[in-house]
Amino acid sequence: MIAILANIATLEKKQYMQKKFKRTLITSALPYANGPVHIGHLAGVYVPADIYARYLRLKGEEVFFVGGSDEHGVPITIKAKKEGVTPQDIVDRYHKIIKDSFDGLGISFDVYGRTTSATHRKTASDFFRRLYDKGEFVEKSSMQLYDEQAGQFLADRYVTGTCPHCGNEKAYGDQCEKCGTSLNATDLINPKSAITGNTPVLKETFHWFLPLDKWEPKLRQWILEEHKEWKPNVYGQCKSWLDLGLQPRAVSRDLDWGIPVPVEGAEGKVLYVWFDAPIGYISNTIEALGDDWERWWKDPETRMLHFIGKDNIVFHCIVFPSMLMADGSYNLPDNVPANEFLNLEDDKISTSQNWAVWLHEYLEDLPGKQDTLRYVLTANAPETKDNNFTWKDFQARNNNELVAILGNFINRAVVLTHKYFDGAVPPVKTLETVDTQLIEDIEKLKGEMTEALDTFHFREALRLAMDMARAGNKYLQETEPWKVSKTDMDRTGTILNIALQTCANLAIAFEPFLPFMAAKLIKMLGMGAISWDMLGKFDLIPAGAHIGNPELLFEKIEDSVVEAQVQKLKDAKEKNRLAAWKPAEVKPNVEFETFEKIDIRVGKVLECSKVKKSKKLLQFLIDDGMEKRTILSGIAESYEDPSFLVGKEICFIANFEPRKMMGIESQGMILSAVNPDGKLTVISPSADVVPGASVG
Ligand code: MF3
Ligand code: ZN
Repeated sequence: MIAILANIATLEKKQYMQKKFKRTLITSALPYANGPVHIGHLAGVYVPADIYARYLRLKGEEVFFVGGSDEHGVPITIKAKKEGVTPQDIVDRYHKIIKDSFDGLGISFDVYGRTTSATHRKTASDFFRRLYDKGEFVEKSSMQLYDEQAGQFLADRYVTGTCPHCGNEKAYGDQCEKCGTSLNATDLINPKSAITGNTPVLKETFHWFLPLDKWEPKLRQWILEEHKEWKPNVYGQCKSWLDLGLQPRAVSRDLDWGIPVPVEGAEGKVLYVWFDAPIGYISNTIEALGDDWERWWKDPETRMLHFIGKDNIVFHCIVFPSMLMADGSYNLPDNVPANEFLNLEDDKISTSQNWAVWLHEYLEDLPGKQDTLRYVLTANAPETKDNNFTWKDFQARNNNELVAILGNFINRAVVLTHKYFDGAVPPVKTLETVDTQLIEDIEKLKGEMTEALDTFHFREALRLAMDMARAGNKYLQETEPWKVSKTDMDRTGTILNIALQTCANLAIAFEPFLPFMAAKLIKMLGMGAISWDMLGKFDLIPAGAHIGNPELLFEKIEDSVVEAQVQKLKDAKEKNRLAAWKPAEVKPNVEFETFEKIDIRVGKVLECSKVKKSKKLLQFLIDDGMEKRTILSGIAESYEDPSFLVGKEICFIANFEPRKMMGIESQGMILSAVNPDGKLTVISPSADVVPGASVG
């Protein structure tokens, strides 16, 4: 039974793969321009999209890779308000940071636009108007949350409250980030305004709704029947949405930041950000290609792919396709290879908590290491489940894989060619079994890689590319040209030729993943233009050609480098904790008589040392004005050197019930204050006081 099902799945995959397209339009989610991008965005969306775009270009296919900033939406206005600047200031700032950092990482967009461009405003506005004129919207009045103090309707991120599905108390008006459910603001239990903190009231307003229910049968057929090959996480999410039944969705908002609704009487209303943003894919295409844009969107021989993170699935598989169907002249996406999330050092990445590795900072802190990041993010890509990034793993993968396997093999091949043949590629004389074995291995790996790439299994494809380098190392280990060179230069030449051809193969196989390394290697080997067809061939560099000097392709990353990055994260966490600190609430009042019962005194520290086998306890010997008493205090972690306290005057409770700890009796309690960072400090009088003096 299982075997039969598996066969059906393979059959479906095969049929799907046989469908021929002339060109591919690749879109990648437009990041919100209210902050920089981090490794979670990269691993989930931009690195895989770039790998795929580069791969198709190598195959000689016609590709257009669209990116851009998403510059509308509530979070941008909240940030602007907080900083006392305009929303435009915010998006100008982050659009530049994001665009430059993508450039820095080699994300090869064919266009990187923005949704505040004139082209986009017009395209989105016209799109809405077309649907409006066709009667594709339902205009409805409804009760919406309204902040009376701010004098404004609250939608989306302007409201927080308890998620009705999972009980998360910090859910937003458009989505619960804990359970991933997409919400309406009025669904929230106990809603609060993000502007004033007030409880909003309900007030009537009208909006345009896209009746998703109208498209439900078509969506069911198109996704559930015709796209069984989609990734299980994507297909599953779509199925559960469709099975719940689709509702009309509001596509306008009462806000002053966005694209005005192009309808009379719609003053003060703008397009919902999730209505205008995906149209950004279209407008950015128009921005770049002018009149030539339509064949990328409307020709049935064009294939469209959306690269996104899992929180965007519903918008790309249900909402945007419904918009496109309502228009009627557009293609639907052929696949939506959405990824899961990447965690950082075992914690959820959080922009607001600064628990993230920001791309623009990475490029500054680790210059020239773009490929290492691309490599690690692909090797750990959250393709089927959430995955984790740690700096330790980053270092290990760089040092043990990029340096020790890939860099090492190429370096050996190039250095030996210089050593024995002055850098001139030696000819192949006769092939032995070990040579043909390597050639076969590389050919086989190419086949497997191609299949993995065609089905969006990028981690697997990268692992296979690395296997090519492993095969190269094994080959040199087995053939030992450095030994053979003592007796047989013809054979040495053959071995090095094969090794260099393998290097050339690696330049091609790795180009989609590690474009910076590939470019250096191509130059070093003197190769011209490369293509996927060339992969698996062993005549890529002609005998007699001169190769360049060995260049360092990867360098070892020292402990201090990753330790500094871990420290940076820890500092961010600490800063948040301090920022969130508030003094404890004041306890209920007590009578003077109650206070009087506590006998607080000044004492002088005669001795102070750590209690053996205890991390926390310090043992004090105190002059209390009458005799000496021993007091234990749990402050050892705050005093590296307890002798610092000797001779100091401190305050202690003299009538505290004696207690035994670690076999020692403590006769009192030393008073200390605790700082937000957890550091304790003993309380001392501000001028000399006689030991035994009462405090009150
Ligand atoms: N800005 C959205 C996010 O970061 C993604 C928008 S994708 C688009 O979640 F299709 F709307 F452009
Ligand atoms: Zn929830």
